[in-house]
Amino acid sequence: MTDVCRWDVPGRVNLIGEHLDYNGGPVLPMAIDRRVTVKARLREDGVVNVWTDLPGAAKESFTTSVRPGEVDGWASYAAAMIWSLGNAGHSLSGADLVIESALPSGAGLSSSAATTCGIGAALNQAQHLGLDRTQVAQLAQQAEAEFVGVPVGLMDQLAVLHGQAGHALLIDTSQQPHPFEAVPLTWDADGLTLVVISTGAHHSLAAGEYAARREECEQAAAELGLDRLADAGLDATVRLTDETLKARTRHVLTETARVRGAVNAIRRGAWPQLGTILTASHASLRDDFEVSCSELDTAVEAALEAGALGARMTGGGFGGSAIALVAPEKVQAVRDRVEARYLDRRWARPEVFAVRAADGAHPAPSTDARLGK
Ligand code: GLA
Repeated sequence: MTDVCRWDVPGRVNLIGEHLDYNGGPVLPMAIDRRVTVKARLREDGVVNVWTDLPGAAKESFTTSVRPGEVDGWASYAAAMIWSLGNAGHSLSGADLVIESALPSGAGLSSSAATTCGIGAALNQAQHLGLDRTQVAQLAQQAEAEFVGVPVGLMDQLAVLHGQAGHALLIDTSQQPHPFEAVPLTWDADGLTLVVISTGAHHSLAAGEYAARREECEQAAAELGLDRLADAGLDATVRLTDETLKARTRHVLTETARVRGAVNAIRRGAWPQLGTILTASHASLRDDFEVSCSELDTAVEAALEAGALGARMTGGGFGGSAIALVAPEKVQAVRDRVEARYLDRRWARPEVFAVRAADGAHPAPSTDARLGK
């Protein structure tokens, strides 16, 4: 019996730079202190068994030659990563996998990237594949794009694999492979904390809206004669005629500028300025990119009413989570205000919790009864 390889992989929030990672713009995510744990033990018979602690999910099994379309539901991300590894020529002998998550799924906190990257990292170790973290990230992105069918960028996978405690990652998606640098986050020393408001509105990028936004951006770039929309000049919105494409482009251009402003504010400890930029990002995602929803807008408004310095939706949108920068003594006020506003609308109670910037994926010692060791 082979050893159990365990990897702990954090979720992420994106501080700012939304819907820029497939447009060649800068993004600023951070790994968070809530994680997915993947335990893997090799098998020799070409079978992959997956267990999870997701409510209502049973064990799923497939083979190492699984193809897109053959597995759906919760196990599709596991199957996708197995397929992606095989597709890239990494031969797998079979595996038993246990996936445990302290990240709510569908909350826009990258539980999917944590799962695919965790499986990639654990099997990379168990099967001695020799992949580095960026290669695992790229295979996880291909898994999501080509097997699950959502054409995501590379931000989430890089964030959960390369995150550093106390830092955000400034990723430049205009170059391949994307270079990144760690930006120290010091707001806690100045008496601030970052809060996540998980709206409970189920965020499903697979619904096609994500792909639709990506196509609109590609169309706008093509009309402007560019490879990447983030390279557009200030005249772009004048040159485009279609109002929707103008609005999408306006978001990409203004968000790119906001990322630079946010990094500058973080480096100077200019927290009110950072807060203003975060809130402006939300307005742009709501009005120009049209990826917010009532639950996210209400969470942001309520957080600001309760004294947050700034707040915005984070991640792909259409549900999921918002973030807010607040003084610790105001966290309860934010929670109370958001809950009250949700109660008024008869929405389920949202989850409100503080997060810290955490380290990216790392191996940990493990045993698991299901894995026989
Ligand atoms: C999702 C995708 C990312 C990114 C964000 C939006 O999280 O997985 O690649 O595009 O949406 O910024």
